[in-house]
Amino acid sequence: MTGAILWFTGMSGAGKSTLATAVGARVSAHRPVEILDGDVVRTQLSKGLGFSREDRDTNVRRIGVVATLLARHGVFVITAAISPYANIRDEVRTMAEAEGIAFLEVFVNPPLAWLIAHDVKGLYKRALAGEIAHFTGITDPYEAPTAPDLDIRTDAESVEQSADRIVTLLQARNLIVPT
Ligand code: ADX
Repeated sequence: MTGAILWFTGMSGAGKSTLATAVGARVSAHRPVEILDGDVVRTQLSKGLGFSREDRDTNVRRIGVVATLLARHGVFVITAAISPYANIRDEVRTMAEAEGIAFLEVFVNPPLAWLIAHDVKGLYKRALAGEIAHFTGITDPYEAPTAPDLDIRTDAESVEQSADRIVTLLQARNLIVPT
C-alpha cells in the first residue's frame, strides 16, 4: 500500500498528540504506523532547536523529511507538531506528493480561549505573564490552514468522535480498508 502522511497542525495543547495516539492505534490494525511528535522529536532529532521562525522551520522540515522517508516504504506516518507556518507545511506536502505519497492536513482547532482555560502544561499562563517569549498564539503567529482536509474542534467533540471522523476520511481516500 502506498505510504501516507497524516499531518496534524494546531496550537500547543490543542490535542494533536492525543489524537495522533488514538488514530495511530486504529490505523495500526491495518498497516504499519509511526508517530512523529514535536515534543519527542525536540528531545532527539531536533534537540537544541528553539522557537524562532528559523528553528521552527528547521524542526518542521526535519519532521517532513523523516515522514517522507518512512512513507516511501509504505509506512503510515502521523505527525503532531504545531507547524505554525503555512509555507513550510505546503513545502512538505509538495515534497511528499512529488513521490506519490498521500498527504492529509488535519487542523486541530479549538478556540484560543479554550486553550487558555484548559492550559494542561501551564504554558499559556506563563506566556501571558510574559515569561515565555514567542509563544504560539500569544506572542508568536499561528497561520491557520486555509483548506485543511479536516477541521477538528477538540473543544466540541470527544477524542473518539474526532478519531472516527479521521478514520472515515482515511477509508474514503483508500488509505485503510473499511472493516
Ligand atoms: S513547532 O512550532 O516547531 O512545530 P513543536 O510542536 O515542535 O513546535 O513544539 C511545541 C511544544 O513546545 C509545545 O507543545 C510546548 O510544550 C513547547 N513550547 C515551548 N516553548 C514554546 C513556544 N514559544 N511556542 C510554542 N510551544 C512552545
